[in-house]
Amino acid sequence: MTKRVAILISGGGSNMMSLVTAMDDDGFDAKPVLVLANNADAGGIAKARAKGIATAVVDHRPFKGDRAAFEAVLHETIAKHQPDILCLAGFMRVLTAGFIDKWDGKMLNIHPSLLPKYTGLHTHQRAIDAGDKKAGCSVHVVTAKLDDGPLLGQAEVPVLADDTAETLAARVLIEEHKLYPAALQAFVKNGG
Ligand code: GAR
Repeated sequence: MTKRVAILISGGGSNMMSLVTAMDDDGFDAKPVLVLANNADAGGIAKARAKGIATAVVDHRPFKGDRAAFEAVLHETIAKHQPDILCLAGFMRVLTAGFIDKWDGKMLNIHPSLLPKYTGLHTHQRAIDAGDKKAGCSVHVVTAKLDDGPLLGQAEVPVLADDTAETLAARVLIEEHKLYPAALQAFVKNGG
C-alpha cells in the first residue's frame, strides 16, 4: 500500500524537495500528502505548491510558548491529511513527548551531524571547533529525547582544514539530499 507522507519544514525546504522528487519515482511506494511549515515565510511552501502538493502553515508564534496548544493545532492540521509517516525536514521546533507519542515509530528526522555527536544547533561549527576530521548527517526515528532515537542511516563527509560552518554545511547538505530519500525508501520497504 502506498504510504502517505507529511513533511514538516521551517525554511527553504531543500530536503523536503529531495524527498518529494524521490517519491515521484514509480519504484518508491510513498507519496507526499502535505508539506507543513511553522512559518509562513518558509520558502519550501511555494516550492511544494508548485509541485501540486497540499500545504499548510501553523505559525507557532501566536501560541506564545504554549507548546501543547501549538502541537494540538499542528496535530489536527496534519491528521486531516491522514499521513502514515511524518518526515521532519529542517523543522526547527522542539516537539514534546505528547506530540511525539501520537506518531510513535512513524516520525523521521534528518539532523546535520553524525549522531550521537552534536544534538541541537550549530552542529557544523561545533564539529570544526572540536577538530573533527569527519562530519555528516543522520536520519533517525524520532523519540521523546531530542535528536535521539534509532538511526536509519548516516552519511559522512571530510572536514577540510579551511572549512567554515557554511562550507561544511553545504558539503553535508549534498549528502542529506541523498541520505533522506534512501532512508525513507528503506523505512517504507520495511513496513514503515
Ligand atoms: C538541514 O541541514 C537539516 O539537516 C537541518 O536544517 C537544514 C534544513 O535545510 N535540520 C536541523 O538542524 C534539525 N535540527 P532545508 O530546509 O534546505 O532542508
